[in-house]
Amino acid sequence: MITQAHIADVTALFTLENELFFVNDFPLSKGSFYYHVKRNPLFVYREAEKIIGYTLWLKRKNHYRLYSIGVSNAHRGLGIAQALLNYSFETFNASCYTLEVKTTNNNAIKLYEKNGFKKQKVLSHYYPNQCDGYLMMKS
Ligand SMILES: CC(C)(COP(=O)(O)OP(=O)(O)OC[C@H]1O[C@@H](n2cnc3c(N)ncnc32)[C@H](O)[C@@H]1OP(=O)(O)O)[C@@H](O)C(=O)NCCC(=O)NCCS
Repeated sequence: MITQAHIADVTALFTLENELFFVNDFPLSKGSFYYHVKRNPLFVYREAEKIIGYTLWLKRKNHYRLYSIGVSNAHRGLGIAQALLNYSFETFNASCYTLEVKTTNNNAIKLYEKNGFKKQKVLSHYYPNQCDGYLMMKS
C-alpha cells in the first residue's frame, strides 16, 4: 500500500535510508525526514505495516523534482520502485518531471529511462564526492 508518509514514519524512513545509501552518498538525516514529511510529497510503500520503499519529491514552479527513491535490498526487482513512480505520476498528473542521478547508478538510470526520463546533460562533479551526475527530464 502506498500513502503519504507521516511523522510517525520518520524513524523507519531513516533506518531504511541508511540501508540504501552509504555515508559517502550523504543519506538524508532524521531531521531532513522530519522536514520533508511535513512539507513535501514523500510516499511510502508498506508491506505488512513495514516501510520497504519510499520516494521523495520537491514541487517546483513548473515541474516536480524527484529528490530520492529507494527500495530495501530484500525487496528489489519486484516492481516496488515502479509502483511508487506510477503512484506519483497519477497523483501529480504534471507535464514535467526532473531528477539528478549519478552517472554510475545504472539500475536507477534504467528505471528512469523505462519511465520516459531522458538524459539532458552531464552535471560535472555534481555530488559532494566528486561523482558526475545526469540531469534527466520527463515531459
Ligand atoms: C533503483 C531502485 C530504486 C530500483 O528499485 P526496484 O524496486 O528494485 O525496481 P523495480 O523492481 O520497480 O524495477 C523497475 C525497473 O527498473 C529497472 N531496474 C531496477 N533494478 C534493476 C537492476 N538491478 N538491473 C537492471 N534494471 C533494473 C528496470 O528497468 C526495471 O524494469 P523491468 O523489471 O521491467 O526490467 C533500487 O535498486 C534502489 O533502491 N537502489 C538504491 C537507492 C538508489 O540508488 N536510488 C536512486 C538514486 S536516488
